[in-house]
Formats: sequence, structure tokens, C-alpha cells
Amino acid sequence: MNSQLLLEAREYEKIYSEQIQPSERPVFHITPWVGWLNDPNGFSTYKGEYHLFYQYYPYDVNWGPMHWGHVKSKDFIKWERLPVAIGPDMDYDVTGCFSGSAIELPDGRQLLMYTGVKGIDNTPSCRQTQCLAFGDGIDYEKYEGNPVLTVKNLPEGNSPRDFRDPKIWYDKKDERYYAVVGNRTADDSGAILMFESKDVLNWEYVTTLDSCKNEYGKMWECPDFFEINGKAFILTSPQEMRAKGLEFHNGNDVICLVGSYERETHAFTRENVIPVDFGLDFYAPQTLETEDGRRIMIGWMQAWETTRFHPHQYQWMGQLTFPRELSEKEGKLIQNPVREIANYRENGVLCEGLKIVEKTEIPGVSGRVVDMTVEVHPSLIEDLYEEFKINIAENEEYSTSIIYHPHKNLVEFNRENSGYRLNVVHTRKAPVRDQDGKIKFRIILDRFSAEVFINDGEQVMSACFYTPLEAEGISFEAKGETWIDVEKYDIVIK
Ligand code: FRU
Repeated sequence: MNSQLLLEAREYEKIYSEQIQPSERPVFHITPWVGWLNDPNGFSTYKGEYHLFYQYYPYDVNWGPMHWGHVKSKDFIKWERLPVAIGPDMDYDVTGCFSGSAIELPDGRQLLMYTGVKGIDNTPSCRQTQCLAFGDGIDYEKYEGNPVLTVKNLPEGNSPRDFRDPKIWYDKKDERYYAVVGNRTADDSGAILMFESKDVLNWEYVTTLDSCKNEYGKMWECPDFFEINGKAFILTSPQEMRAKGLEFHNGNDVICLVGSYERETHAFTRENVIPVDFGLDFYAPQTLETEDGRRIMIGWMQAWETTRFHPHQYQWMGQLTFPRELSEKEGKLIQNPVREIANYRENGVLCEGLKIVEKTEIPGVSGRVVDMTVEVHPSLIEDLYEEFKINIAENEEYSTSIIYHPHKNLVEFNRENSGYRLNVVHTRKAPVRDQDGKIKFRIILDRFSAEVFINDGEQVMSACFYTPLEAEGISFEAKGETWIDVEKYDIVIK
């Protein structure tokens, strides 16, 4: 039985989403049906389709008591909206249904595992617990035994107020369910706790997979844990980070702990800590594994600090990244857009061996819903160009730029002139491999965002900008001289 609260939310989203014109949204990136969205949740396969939930408050374009919005897809590109899945309608989740995950159970039901919050953030009585809801892909029943993980399951001294964002999976070999959950430890910083269960209802603490020790921010939110090529990866989103070189920036950031995992003892040995996205808007990513064995990641494409900027009075706020295929190379995480996007490419323009000296536009290369690859290959290694620049979302008034400095091995993303009316950070830099001025960019544009995949996914920079849509120019510039190949497609979703 759906609660009154949920039925009202369903009614509300149906009515008020009508007021948002399709032209006010990105074309293939997920936005809330109406109102607010933050983290992706429950990214998983159910009955052969990809399901995705998101932190959702339909009634405002600001964060509020969290519900779970819901969409599904057969191919990560075309998403179908489903009614809001759960809302804060129980005593143990009255303040909000915070982030979590989902899986398909052997009996055909879909299980949601989420954080129930009771009490205001950071007050002594606030409690965060892990809860379950069972459903059929549309309607969900919260488990009568909720919550299933509470302060009782925590090691001595760990905080019951910061205990959230369970990521569940089933391990066939062990015939067990596991979940990793973010938690605050006695030293006031984050940790990733691992729990196990035979039946999803009864859970036990296994180990602390890794902990922050005040080195990478404070509380660690939204953990995920998976292996690729025998390497173990933990994704987590630290709060209150302090900048470190170009690798990590201040505030909420995302890190990847790379190491090895020993199945018998559940011991994770950390070898490295690496950044995940060098852009301005990326947080709280989550992954799933597809049937053909690909590890796909999706994140919230937004920084908390800029959420009070509500462009153009749109009645939606927040979007997710484009889903990315992850792979491993030399202990690093490589990210590329999911391959399914190739099915939606139209109006291809191929331009090879174009010399760039001054500002150049290419006939047919423009637009705001675009998949474009640009390969730069200099002719004069001894007299290497100073700078190469791609301008997007450009007209006389606006532009956003991706600038490559070959002498410094840096790529800079700059949205200062994108029309962003907020006194916040608008540029960020990524260190890239030294290849004597050679570099490859793949840029996914979807109206209000750009995701820049550098050198086949070695680095990624994601950022939102809200430039008016009539600014759809794309141009190329160099200080000095270089040559480029450009392959550009419009992405068309019918
Ligand atoms: C991360 C986060 C999660 C929490 C959710 C609340 O962005 O703070 O830790 O579950 O957002 O909306």
C-alpha cells in the first residue's frame, strides 16, 4: 500500500512536470521530473532493464526531505520516467530517504537499500540507519523489520549520525550479500564499513575496508566497491576536502582508492588514491555491472556550492552525468561514454588535417547536443604551439572553453563567460600525458553541460553551464600552429 505522502508526491510530479518544456531540459541526461535532484541511487539491472533512482524533492528546486525519483532504460540513453518510488513516510525515515542502492532478488522482487534519516543533520539525536524496501519495479513496500542496520551494528566509537549510503551487491562465490556503507569514525573523519548478510534481512559487520584518518576530507559519502582486471576500486565522495595540487579540490570531491582485495579475509590494501573527475561538477558516483560484464558509472553532475543558482527559472534543478564505461589501465581508472550513444549519432561531419592558426569554424560543426572528437597533432615539434583552444556554446556574447597548454601538459576548462551569475569557481585544470603536443578530446555536449574525455578517457572534466541555447557555435584556435582532425555528430533522440 502506498502511503498518502507518496500518492501526493506522485500526483504532484505528474501535474507540475507538465509545466517544464522539453526544450528547457538536456536531451539525454537525466533531470528530475520536477523539482530537485542530487545523487544517483539504485543504479542496477532489473528484469533486463537498467533502473536508476535519484535523490529527489519534487516540491522545490532546493534540497528538501528526500524521496527517490525513478527512471528506467534499455540502453542508458533513452530513459522512461516512472512514478516516485519511496518517500519519507515512516518514523525511521521521516527526515528523508537518503542515498542507497538496489538489486534484483532471486524471487523476482527488486530490493532497495537506503538510508533512513530521523532528526536534523548534526544534532545529537539525529540517527541514520539502513533500511529496505521491496518492489516490482514501480511500487515498493518498506520492510516491517526496518531498520536493518543501526548503531548496534557499528564498531565502538563510530557515529550513528553519519552512517549512510549503502551499496549492496550479491557475491555468487560466497553466496552472500555484501554492502559497503559510509560512516564517521571516532577521529571525526570517514570510513567505509562492509557488512554481510545471507538473506538481506539480517546483517553483520565484517570489516572497515578503508578509512580516511583525516587525510582525504572528513566524512566519506556514497561508497562503491568493485574489481576490474583483478584490481580493487573503492569510490567515495569526501566532504570538507582540502585541495592538493590539481588532484583534489576544496569542498566535496570524489576519490578512488585503488588496491588489492583478499576475498577470504575481506582485507583491502590501499596502493593509491586517485581523482575521478577534474571538472567543476561531479559528485556521488555509483556503478553497476551489465550482463556483458561492463562496469558503468553515473554521477551527480553538480557541485553543492552552486546549487543556489537556478538558471532561467527552470522548475528542475540538478542532472546526472552521462553513463561511463570504466576500465583499468596501469592501476588507473579509464572512463569513456557508454558505447550505446553511437546508435544516436546523426549528421556526421568529418574534417581531417585542418591547419589551425587563427580562430576557425568548420561548416556543420556547431550545436549544443553533440558528440565530437578532436585530435590535435602538431607539425613542428621543435616549434611547438603555445596553446590550443576549443570554444563551445559560443556566440558574440558567450563562450565556454577547453584550453590545452602543451608546454605545461595541462588542460583547462573555463566557463567564466558562459553566463553563470555566481561568484564561484569557474575554471579547473587537469594534468595530462606529455605527447609532444598531441592530444585527443571527446566532448559530449547536452545543452547545459560538457563532459570532456581526454586521451581516450585517461582524464575527464565534467561541468554544467547555462548559456542561452542560441549560443551554439563551436570554434578552434591556436597560439602558434597545429593541425586537427574533427569528427562531429549531433545526438538525436526520437
Ligand atoms: C551526498 C549526500 C549523501 C546523502 C544524500 C542526501 O550528496 O549527502 O551522503 O545520502 O546526499 O540527499
